[in-house]
Amino acid sequence: MFDLKEFPTSLQKFYHDNNDLRPHLEPQPNKDSQWIYQQSDIPWLKLNIDTPHEEMYREAKSWIDEMVPQNYKELFDNPVLDGEFPNQKGWNTICVHGIGPKHFDRGYMYGYGHEDEVPYIWTEVADQCPITKEYLQSLPYEKLYRARFTMLAPGGYAAPHIGRKKAASHSRKINVALNHPKGFHFHLEGQGPIPWEPGRAHLIAADDFYHAVFNQSDEVRIHLITMGKPDFKRLEPLIQESYYSDDPFGYKNWEA
Ligand SMILES: [Fe+2]
Repeated sequence: MFDLKEFPTSLQKFYHDNNDLRPHLEPQPNKDSQWIYQQSDIPWLKLNIDTPHEEMYREAKSWIDEMVPQNYKELFDNPVLDGEFPNQKGWNTICVHGIGPKHFDRGYMYGYGHEDEVPYIWTEVADQCPITKEYLQSLPYEKLYRARFTMLAPGGYAAPHIGRKKAASHSRKINVALNHPKGFHFHLEGQGPIPWEPGRAHLIAADDFYHAVFNQSDEVRIHLITMGKPDFKRLEPLIQESYYSDDPFGYKNWEA
């Protein structure tokens, strides 16, 4: 286990400021999934999706050596220095579906316009990860944009950052925990910790809130992050079930 003091002070502060918070939701009556997705201000929703997370974790793990540092150019308040301290460490990724396996950023960063115009394809990672590919095809997207494994090494972190609003027309992401080592933390500013469990899927508005992750455990953490044009017909029951439940954020029976 890594001591909290081993992480940058910005992360320690973010953790202390947000760890005891919990999001608040007063559900608006009679809203459909499109309204909830596009107009509500929910920070995230727990989605009840069955996930073959152990198999997908195995598939993802075989790509760890190929993953590249997430050197987003505009994401942090300070420029990223070759993907290492102070903004991030051990926070690497590879695309299963994308322009290519290592094109992890949004399409416009590679000169494309709207996400619908980007020539997203199944990469060679997908060819080697059949269970993940099948799972991705089952998700409620009319069109899948990017889907990528993202790892956080033991002792790794990404300092507080926020997405770019100008590209956020489809900014909500389905983010799936392929494992959840104790000591992995993911907080949203002003909201609280996201209650992950292995295999848990959340619909997250990560681009609307500063957020940060760090891994105090001795185990590599891997998530599957997906973005696409939503298929509201298929999303409808999932969103309705969660938004109008007594546990929309997934804290019930959760151990931090
Ligand atoms: Fe992020």
